[in-house]
Amino acid sequence: KPLAAQAGVAGTVDAKGDAASAAAPQFTRDNGAPVGENRHSKTVGDLGPVLLEDSHLIEKLARFDRERIPERVVHARGTGAHGVFTASADLGDITRASLFVPGKQTPTFVRFSTVIHPSGSPEGMRDPRGFAVKFYTDEGNWDLVGNSLPIFFIRDAIQFPDMIHSLKPSPITNKQDPNRFFDFFSATPEATNMLTQVYSNLGTPASYRTMDGNGVHAFKLVDKNGETVFAKFRWISHQGVKNLNGAAAAKAPFNYLTDDLYTEIAAGNFPTWDLMVQTMKPSEFAKLSYNPFDDTKEWLDVPFKKVGEMVLNKVPDNFFEFTEQSAFAPSNMVPGIEPSPDRMLQGRLFSYADTQRHRLGANALSLPVNRPLVTVVNNNQDGQLNHGNRKADVNYFPAQTAQKTTDAQYRQSAYAVSGMADVKPISKTDNFAQPGTFYRALSAADKADLIANLAGDLNVVTSARTKTIMVSYFYQADKDYGTRLAQATNVPLAEVTRAVAEYRAATAKLATR
Ligand code: HEM
Repeated sequence: KPLAAQAGVAGTVDAKGDAASAAAPQFTRDNGAPVGENRHSKTVGDLGPVLLEDSHLIEKLARFDRERIPERVVHARGTGAHGVFTASADLGDITRASLFVPGKQTPTFVRFSTVIHPSGSPEGMRDPRGFAVKFYTDEGNWDLVGNSLPIFFIRDAIQFPDMIHSLKPSPITNKQDPNRFFDFFSATPEATNMLTQVYSNLGTPASYRTMDGNGVHAFKLVDKNGETVFAKFRWISHQGVKNLNGAAAAKAPFNYLTDDLYTEIAAGNFPTWDLMVQTMKPSEFAKLSYNPFDDTKEWLDVPFKKVGEMVLNKVPDNFFEFTEQSAFAPSNMVPGIEPSPDRMLQGRLFSYADTQRHRLGANALSLPVNRPLVTVVNNNQDGQLNHGNRKADVNYFPAQTAQKTTDAQYRQSAYAVSGMADVKPISKTDNFAQPGTFYRALSAADKADLIANLAGDLNVVTSARTKTIMVSYFYQADKDYGTRLAQATNVPLAEVTRAVAEYRAATAKLATR
């Protein structure tokens, strides 16, 4: 068979046309110029060198060399789906956000993720799971960048880089090491609530469809009259919450979460979640034993109200274009939804858009998955990968010649603040009550799994002091929990109670400063 015909079988266009299908599209270079040969470089004869003038070859290799963009510094391993949110409640009395009108539909894009491990890691590793939702509303994009769990490890953004450094692989061995992250957590008692939930089977979900989601922070909702209330959001799965225990998660196939989501959506079994909201007024804060803006706490006794449903009904037709290039940022808010003073949320307002300008470039928000449905009108311009959003000469404001308006109805709420500017911890910490409540509500089997999961990692820790302090935190959450963990980790109970006494003495001293 002639060589040209064999090339045709491989899908290139055959000059003689005897093997290539007439309907197959002509191969081109990035400049659109047709390509005559895609399997052989341009060489000088049989034995001669490859020529630099083969621009098709150079372009092909250069494009390949640049296929990877920086992966997300956290939440690198993820999977996405398109969907639609249908509001069921009129929230006009608490927020002017335009999406909460009964029956109104807003398109969404969702990305689920693990947190710590890289983009090529197995999906069964213990982690909170990201649950990030982009609502393409008619007043701009609102990103609710949440997690599967309702709380977080730390309560101040200034600790986030340290916490992530301790959880990521060691800079020396390149291995994740419980010695490092429990070293960090032994000085971070506020993490006890989150660690308890992550080491329960919630840390290894059976599928992304069978997870709830949480906005975690309090947000400020503002109505048309400028009245404000604070709110937390939660997604409740219609599929029910289902998890794997440690042993099952260890055997879970590499891609089991992505495979499940893609398979179920392809089969028409569209996963659905209710969006719920809890609200609190500042007048209710005094009754709480904790700071209302502390993200290591749930608002446990505050009722939920259903505000709508989200259905995921399509997987992206290109993973990179949609899932990888999606850029969710807590700072993407819409009129009626504003930040609360939560110290973590305040840090996140900066961090996401900042990393995305580095990861995807200054024009990240004009990529198809990120751009709003509404027209963007401002004077931001140029930068890498700009594709021509500016046709006018007037790129300044104010301008008499071509006016753009700003409407006072969209001003953010005004609020009073008072206090000393300082770098101090919050006063109402209450680190152990909620993990105790969570532990006591678990079934006997779930309690046993939690103890086994935690002991598995704590038993890797070589420092007896770190281990003892960790067990003493769980003991303060619940005596039975701490006692069982002490047994499972061979920490003498007398050492645990001594660490508890030391902790209480140190906190009492801090409180009097
Ligand atoms: C992703 C920072 C806390 C949920 C990210 C990314 C950064 C980051 C830099 C990568 C974003 C990107 O490349 O597009 C931080 C900082 C935090 C913090 C500085 C604390 C101050 C949290 C909390 C939650 C959360 C409390 C949950 C409520 C997520 C999710 C993603 C993410 C779901 C992945 C979004 C996606 O799918 O693209 N975070 N994070 N993070 N973070 Fe955080």
